[in-house]
Amino acid sequence: MITVLNRKAGPRISKYIYGHFAEHLGRCIYEGLYVGPDSTIPNKNGMRTDVVEALKAINIPVLRWPGGCFADEYHWQDGIGAKEKRKKIVNTHWGGVTETNHFGTHEFFELIDQLGCEAYINGNVGSGTVQEMQEWIEYMTMAGASPMSALRRENGREEPWAVKFFGVGNESWGCGGNMRPQYYADLYRRYQTYVRQYGDEKIYKIACGPNVDDYEWMEEVMKNASAFMDGISLHHYALTGAWEDKGPALDFAEEHWWSLIQSAEKMDELITKHSTIMDTYDSENRVGLIIDEWGSWLAVEPGTNPGFLYQQNTIRDAMVAAVTLNIFHKHAERVQMANIAQTVNVLQAMLLTEGEAIVKTPSYYVFDLYQVHQDAQRIDSYGNSAEHLSYTISQKDGVLNLSMCNYALDGNQTIDFQFESVINNVQSSRFIYGKAIDSHNEFDRPEEVLIKPFEDYSYEENKLTLTIPAKSVLTIQLEVSD
Ligand code: AHR
Repeated sequence: MITVLNRKAGPRISKYIYGHFAEHLGRCIYEGLYVGPDSTIPNKNGMRTDVVEALKAINIPVLRWPGGCFADEYHWQDGIGAKEKRKKIVNTHWGGVTETNHFGTHEFFELIDQLGCEAYINGNVGSGTVQEMQEWIEYMTMAGASPMSALRRENGREEPWAVKFFGVGNESWGCGGNMRPQYYADLYRRYQTYVRQYGDEKIYKIACGPNVDDYEWMEEVMKNASAFMDGISLHHYALTGAWEDKGPALDFAEEHWWSLIQSAEKMDELITKHSTIMDTYDSENRVGLIIDEWGSWLAVEPGTNPGFLYQQNTIRDAMVAAVTLNIFHKHAERVQMANIAQTVNVLQAMLLTEGEAIVKTPSYYVFDLYQVHQDAQRIDSYGNSAEHLSYTISQKDGVLNLSMCNYALDGNQTIDFQFESVINNVQSSRFIYGKAIDSHNEFDRPEEVLIKPFEDYSYEENKLTLTIPAKSVLTIQLEVSD
């Protein structure tokens, strides 16, 4: 039995926890999001209509761009002006392919506009200058007269855009410059000074935080630079084992079901420990912990370019998504944004495309089921849950939202919830379920894992009883009396 303290609203679960990440990597931007205005694939100003519609349906709140490792080699001036004149560069991190720069700043904001979400731009510290970063901000956000706003106008855009979030470097401890934390902290202080505020809205500045459990990095950067930041990032990918030996996305052994989920569950420990360090320098939770890269990182699909990080996505990845989102909710006081990697065709993608074809992944459906928690108040609870269950309860607009994931491999779990109020009505009840350990959707079989009505529940007075099958994720919405 779980006792639910629904009369007391907990912290707000930021909608930005449901953020996404799109890098110039493999077929994420080109083919996935952007096909160009001349494509035969239906598009609006080059953006795939089916992809935009699918992302809008899960209420995408924010998109991070242009990387990732790519960000620290990206020179924004290469990606503006007439497309045929744009510099063609080598994408050194991701397959050594030619980057045409046809998708640049204007195209990114066109996408943001179509999606109706906020922009999170990641700046280049690793190989870019302070001036370059300062001018990019000026180009994007300056309304009045200035050299960069004049250049923007020359390129066809009168009004400035809104940059809500700005990252100062990415993985500066690795692909972003192999720096030591003390050096990065000083560099962060310097670069962020020139992330000027030209518009009315304050830009939320994000420092590069640690890789996984690098607590020294967090300590040094918080100690030396926390006063100059609004957020600090953390990257943690779920793996089946060693980094060098990634397990397959399909047709895997049971042992890799468990190891992947266990690796995802480590997020709880990481957030707890990094938050403890952050508390030392920021006891008020002013600085947000921004998990701007997370998700399953598995072996690429056989026969695909190893530099493109294209992997299939199964009910196991849906478990990773649900368990991780529940962990973020648990730490809602500190976690102000998260961005799953990456939106289309890369790592734990929401969508896979092949020419005209598109498929929604099981992870997409978790983001769909869980969108009720965006900007809701967390509701706390206590009691005995069963093994392999992970859940969140929240409240928004007078409705209680209960999401739960049963990541056991076999058997149903029956569980009771005791609320402080009488349950009047079940407003909606939906779930996804995997028949097999690697149930997934293919282009010729796109409906293997799909949201269906969930009917295995009953309620009486204050008590709700659910029987949740193994390998499933559900959301049930309840109306209760005051
Ligand atoms: O998401 C793929 C890569 O993983 C990103 O480019 C980098 O930041 C991280 O190492």
